[in-house]
Amino acid sequence: MAPSLASPVAPCELRPSIHEANSYTPTVPAAGLSGNNTNINRHFSAINNVNFNSAAETHHSATQPRNVEGQADLQDENFADPAKTWNPDSRVYNSRRLQQRRAETTRVAVPLPQGFPAQINPASPLVWSGHDLVEHEYLRHLEKQDIKEIESALEHFKSLNLPVSGVSRTTFPLPELGPKMISLAQKLYGDNNGRGFFILRGLDPKKYDPTDNVIIYVGVSCYVAERRGTQDEKNNCLLHLTDLGATVAPDDVRQAPYSNVPQPFHTDTADLLALYTLQPAAQGGRSLLASSWRVYNSLASSHIDTLAKCNWAFDTFGRKPAYEMRPLLHAIPIESSTDGTPNAIPFNEPNTRVLLSYSRRPLTGSPVSPRTPGIPALTTTQIDALDTVHFTAAAHSIAINLQAGDIQYWNNFALLHAREGFQDDAEQRRHLLRLWLRDENRTREWGGIPKECKLPWDEAFEGEGEEVWPIEPVREHGFVTEQRRSSGHA
Ligand SMILES: [Fe+2]
Repeated sequence: MAPSLASPVAPCELRPSIHEANSYTPTVPAAGLSGNNTNINRHFSAINNVNFNSAAETHHSATQPRNVEGQADLQDENFADPAKTWNPDSRVYNSRRLQQRRAETTRVAVPLPQGFPAQINPASPLVWSGHDLVEHEYLRHLEKQDIKEIESALEHFKSLNLPVSGVSRTTFPLPELGPKMISLAQKLYGDNNGRGFFILRGLDPKKYDPTDNVIIYVGVSCYVAERRGTQDEKNNCLLHLTDLGATVAPDDVRQAPYSNVPQPFHTDTADLLALYTLQPAAQGGRSLLASSWRVYNSLASSHIDTLAKCNWAFDTFGRKPAYEMRPLLHAIPIESSTDGTPNAIPFNEPNTRVLLSYSRRPLTGSPVSPRTPGIPALTTTQIDALDTVHFTAAAHSIAINLQAGDIQYWNNFALLHAREGFQDDAEQRRHLLRLWLRDENRTREWGGIPKECKLPWDEAFEGEGEEVWPIEPVREHGFVTEQRRSSGHA
């Protein structure tokens, strides 16, 4: 485990019980406390409704004056509806922006919080807009020889009679492709002009049975990063993202990974992520990625100040503590290499990594994960900052039509992700497999996990117990309805 370096923001000592939480007086009507909202849009909604020109393109400086006081006076009935706050509507956001402009009477200078740069180096390959990217930068086609090598490794692994947890670079040998994958993985960190993500294309999932597909996926992924995280309290290391339908659990209680609803921009509690597409949706379901450093460069200093404060209450959905207070935005100092040479990664000056880490679900609640009563509600200032991050990410995102057999890898420290809503049909049902991964050396180089985030990250990567590898989707009602940490991420 990489050592956790201190963040310049004050550590959150608060680890309240729900009893203590109940004594808190929210500053605005609690968002999403009513629960049981059945108004799930089963079709394409928020992401598709995004006006890609709507995000505020406001480059900031340390001294630029900002209006912050006007935001506190906003009245927005949408704040009370988790269906609208979890997956925000661009029309509501734009209307609020208009209100703010009209209410803007006093401009208050908001300095950047300590340790945060005015800009992240725009020349960094990890600072991009979707329209800047060209396919060859992120798409890698597997050759016939690569497939042959993967299938040889599969047969070798099966001859060892090991469980999936036994897949490693040793037991799944890829003598030619492996080193290429290790090199390719460095692009996730901006090396060799990498964009923080890549797609491996060329596998045919129909050629293999479900177990072999999982072994191949895990085997190839070993060469991207060797550590795998558990994604829920049952130590499942593999999550099946597929709409299990109302026969397993009704639409109003089935968690997002097991439904077809769109998911707003967020990060997971992992260092790296992988998605293997067994089958795409009949319609929709594109994967959306956005550079969080590009988003950062568009944020006003007042939003950075809001996002960096350690006063965001993350719902843990029944786990202990009942909620955690932490920032969404972190400035993590990076040490120089041990030989004294400057770090080659294009961080900021001074050498600091900005980390944007959050998911809306624990902050706003969602239609199927109503916010636990008594937890401090978000302020209007916080919701405005949260929505600004979302719509700025949408404006600069790339939408990827994943094909059957594609494996998409990305750096969760550098990119935000979202998905469109989708529709299956009788012949074609969207089915993706998700992994959470860690390259310990690179995580250490990047300054580790901020201490405010350690609890959920340690649950994923430092937990004890046997790895569990569900080859098929778990269809138990309790499993797909429980508000577990993998359902939208703490
Ligand atoms: Fe996610």
